[in-house]
Amino acid sequence: MLARAMPYMDPAVDSYLLELAALQHSDSVLEEMEARAREHSFPIVGRAVGRLLELQARSIGARRVIELGSGYGYSAYWFARAVGEGGEVICTDGNADNALDGTGYLGRAGLGERVRYRVGDALAGLAMEEGLFDVVYCDVDKDGYPDCWRAGRERIRRGGLYLCDNALWSGRAATGEPDERRPGYTEAIREHNRLVAEDARFASMIAPVRDGVMIALRIA
Ligand SMILES: C[S@@+](CC[C@H](N)C(=O)[O-])C[C@H]1O[C@@H](n2cnc3c(N)ncnc32)[C@H](O)[C@@H]1O
Repeated sequence: MLARAMPYMDPAVDSYLLELAALQHSDSVLEEMEARAREHSFPIVGRAVGRLLELQARSIGARRVIELGSGYGYSAYWFARAVGEGGEVICTDGNADNALDGTGYLGRAGLGERVRYRVGDALAGLAMEEGLFDVVYCDVDKDGYPDCWRAGRERIRRGGLYLCDNALWSGRAATGEPDERRPGYTEAIREHNRLVAEDARFASMIAPVRDGVMIALRIA
């Protein structure tokens, strides 16, 4: 049985990934966003997962990405790098201040033309967009995960990706231990993970980076 509230990763491994990431990329706007997350305990994906998201999107030549739960644009920053000039990242967030701040950060990072926000419920935002996506990325409140998968999976082109953060929920997804501070989250994440694994149209796995990233490639 895993210990309760397991740290995301071995701290030495985490530092090493960050050290390597720092060799590849530096940006004062990104650092500002990271400092804000530290100061206000805002749950951004962090640099190792940001890198992973960018690499996953680049590996399929993604040009159109939608995020379900964008906060102030940290994960969108990485997707915006991946889609390149003329590409599109649609962000959704229920909080209008996050959208405003995200638009500001991404604009200052030179990525503003690739990103637009929809303020409101993430799935309502998805429903308002037409067509298929190269990547649907999920990071909303965790009790919403099963519904995000049900709606998101239908909007991914063949060869496209569904990516989702916190698929391990500090190990609770593996042990089934309820999260006392957030009732229903462990159960919802486990349901989500099972639904993804059972869907034969997708080849999937959880990469145990940080809090676990679900990677599901649409193959049929
Ligand atoms: C974990 S944070 C996202 C962090 C972001 N992906 C990043 O790494 O920078 C979740 C965000 O989703 C928003 N959110 C949660 N549930 C939502 C929902 N159902 N619809 C829209 N936004 C939601 C919250 O306001 C919050 O800003």
